[in-house]
Amino acid sequence: MNDTPLAAFTRACQARVEAALDRCLPDAEIQPPQLHAAMRYAVLNGGKRVRPTLVYAAAQALGLAPQQVDAPACAVELIHGYSLIHDDLPAMDDDDLRRGRPTCHKAFDEATAILAGDALQTLAFQTLAESDSLSPAARVAMIATLSLAAGSRGMVGGQALDLAAEGQPLDQAGLETIHIHKTGALIRAAVKMATQAVPDLDAGIAAQLDHYAKCLGLAFQIRDDILDVEGETAVIGKTQGKDESHAKATYPALLGLEGARESADNLIADALRSLDGLGDGAAPLRWLAHYMVQRNH
Ligand code: IPE
Ligand code: IPE
Ligand code: MG
Ligand code: MG
Ligand code: MG
Repeated sequence: MNDTPLAAFTRACQARVEAALDRCLPDAEIQPPQLHAAMRYAVLNGGKRVRPTLVYAAAQALGLAPQQVDAPACAVELIHGYSLIHDDLPAMDDDDLRRGRPTCHKAFDEATAILAGDALQTLAFQTLAESDSLSPAARVAMIATLSLAAGSRGMVGGQALDLAAEGQPLDQAGLETIHIHKTGALIRAAVKMATQAVPDLDAGIAAQLDHYAKCLGLAFQIRDDILDVEGETAVIGKTQGKDESHAKATYPALLGLEGARESADNLIADALRSLDGLGDGAAPLRWLAHYMVQRNH
């Protein structure tokens, strides 16, 4: 088979986290069935699983086995799934499509979508709290990391800033703050939780990995902004990208497509430098850094 090492690694991580997600999500027959069906609909169909893949890649760099980090891999994807359900709601980005299918509130209804997001969020923390592959200390550390990253000082705070910035003039520093919070915080938490599975990890290595993840998180959202412009205009034939119609603050809107690409490339170079000295175990983290700015969806 003609497979790149990145493709093989990513596919293995996707299969692994999807099996774990399937196990931790309540069956669609369990009461209330519509809520559980909506949770499964939003999580189990077609995400790239970038955040869990980063958890597994960081684990490999640290010499951990994948089964030691299934819980944080699942937990970060559950938070991500919830964030997307709410991001698409009429009161937020008001989108009808997600991953090529109707958004959760279109496939179900708004109230069910709100509740499915709420329940996915608590399921994430339950999954960490109950993991028997982690020491109690590691579980508490990861719950602290993920709750901080997901909340008002992290992802939710970034979403609030993103909405407040609609139609407002914004400079690059302001836009960077939004992106670092709304998207960067969960990506950074993914890598940090892997480091927290290692008792007494060298502080220098933890800092190197954290810097890598910080650069990657910002580059990931810049690429998302670029794809939103390219995808919607080129593929779907609309005259505006999905965020343009809301006068969203984006990197292409601020710097142009070329400027946005250059910013993302510089961040990835910085991320890669940060892995210097980490050896062959960090190869998946290096592949993922390249993927962040090359991905097409
Ligand atoms: C989309 O995230 C929203 C952002 C935070 C940029 P992903 O591009 O990871 O979405 P899926 O999970 O693969 O659909
Ligand atoms: C989403 O950013 C960020 C979160 C869900 C936290 P966007 O609004 O740009 O993501 P898409 O483009 O809808 O996937
Ligand atoms: Mg949004
Ligand atoms: Mg959106
Ligand atoms: Mg977007």
